[in-house]
Amino acid sequence: MTKPRPPADITTAQGARLRFEVVDVRHHRPDYYADVLAGYKAIRLIDDRGRTRGELVWRLATGQTVEITEFGIYDEADRRQGWGTQLLEAGLASMREFFLGKPYKLRRIYIFCDSINEQGRRFYEAHGFELAAILPRFYHYCDAAMYARDMEREDIA
Ligand SMILES: CC(C)(COP(=O)(O)OP(=O)(O)OC[C@H]1O[C@@H](n2cnc3c(N)ncnc32)[C@H](O)[C@@H]1OP(=O)(O)O)[C@@H](O)C(=O)NCCC(=O)NCCS
Repeated sequence: MTKPRPPADITTAQGARLRFEVVDVRHHRPDYYADVLAGYKAIRLIDDRGRTRGELVWRLATGQTVEITEFGIYDEADRRQGWGTQLLEAGLASMREFFLGKPYKLRRIYIFCDSINEQGRRFYEAHGFELAAILPRFYHYCDAAMYARDMEREDIA
């Protein structure tokens, strides 16, 4: 397989050359991206033997929008006893902490869920998320259901 290459340089109408550079975001506008990278948290649900039984990962998507990128109680036998609800609460608490003292507030939390995942969809619907969009063929095996929760209404942070 040939190595992907960035597009060729550009020559402006005035004859100047422009080139493309790929930079890790930590080194690109560091003030802004330090904040974005700090806003990327994993909340783990750990038992007394140190095993992780569930996780929620969220990231700052825009200055005022958070995406939950991972969310689950690993073992099926552990589900449907309120752990997911408490994990979501722990996630919201960590978002609230992140936004504390920031000049902007958290407006929306969103998540992409397999459209065929009925338990996930029922869970979000039971927790204040509304279906925002269906994205056709988002995954190779099914559509995505995008759910969003309006945090402005709740004044979370
Ligand atoms: C979605 C998930 C995290 C929910 O966790 P959980 O611990 O089972 O959820 P809770 O026990 O806190 O459920 C809270 C409410 O959500 C709804 N809900 C949860 N699972 C449901 C199911 N299988 N069918 C219908 N409603 C369900 C119910 O309203 C439930 O309240 P109730 O039990 O009083 O009726 C869990 O099912 C899971 O890990 N699934 C696999 C991964 C996944 O689908 N992740 C989300 C998509 S990205």
